[in-house]
Amino acid sequence: MKNVFQNILIALFLSHNLFANEVNIYTSRHYDADDILYDEFTKETGIKVNIISGSGSALMERLKAEGQNSPGDVFFTVDAGNLSKFQNEGFFQTIESEKIINVVPKELRGPNDEWISIAKRARVIFYNPENVSEDEIKNISYEDLSDSKWKGRIVIRSSSNMYNQSLVASLISNNGIEATEKWAKELVSNFARKPQGNDRSQILAVANGEADIAIANTYYLGYMLSGRGGEEQEMAGNKVKIYFPNQDNRGTHVNISGGGVLKNAPNKANAVKFLEFLLTEKAQTHIVNNTFEYPILDTVMPNPLIAQFGTDFKIDSTSVADFGDLNPEAVKLMDRAGWR
Ligand SMILES: [Fe+2]
Repeated sequence: MKNVFQNILIALFLSHNLFANEVNIYTSRHYDADDILYDEFTKETGIKVNIISGSGSALMERLKAEGQNSPGDVFFTVDAGNLSKFQNEGFFQTIESEKIINVVPKELRGPNDEWISIAKRARVIFYNPENVSEDEIKNISYEDLSDSKWKGRIVIRSSSNMYNQSLVASLISNNGIEATEKWAKELVSNFARKPQGNDRSQILAVANGEADIAIANTYYLGYMLSGRGGEEQEMAGNKVKIYFPNQDNRGTHVNISGGGVLKNAPNKANAVKFLEFLLTEKAQTHIVNNTFEYPILDTVMPNPLIAQFGTDFKIDSTSVADFGDLNPEAVKLMDRAGWR
């Protein structure tokens, strides 16, 4: 009887992977610097990290196919819109960690803590001071970019990009669909060229005078100024300035990098530990100095290349969960507005 009991216990342990000291991370992030984070986590905890990388949609298909038997523990990505998509598919479970909840503000988490932020990213206005005066840019808001005085002067990437979809979702959340649609149509009529390229191409267009204003994420400028993208990018980065929109009212649109614990995680405790690790001072310092994003912890400063533009700007406190909820509306609206 004792043996049978022991065997049942062993079977139970094995089936719950209690002995496996590893964590399986599904990620669509593409930063080399993340590998150093994973190594550091293993060094500190002894937990082996297995990385399964792919685009958000590929990982989604994979999770669907794997179902209950999925080895996935964590999904780690950028943009609240992506995290919301996974949440809506039912891929996440609530993260139970006081450590995490204590440091990540409510507006930077999923509605039931299905996912959390590990870094912030601000989507701001880049301008060329040779072509745009301080007066013209002062107190500017996203809403102001629909003004006809910007005709032929604005560049921004395509509407298929999640960063733009989330920005538009934040405008819908604050101003409603009708006003945002009118705004988007007028914004499109102010474009200097058909949307093309990534955020960095928009900043380059402003640096070389092809456009006067770009909307892009601040961390791209940090990367360009760091010299890691080459001399041409560093020079271009030095030609542009950034302005934080909507300081007079709700604040600048901020999105996140973040992650969640997958629903069928075989190594749930390790998954939570990994997310907790990303919110330690050590990991946060590594993140801000490599991706040039903003930290979640107040005790960590952004990298100086980004901090030089100001760290006390007002942040739009619209819940990032809204970006996911309003994503389908945002996509349809941009299409109606002719934003390609
Ligand atoms: Fe990016």
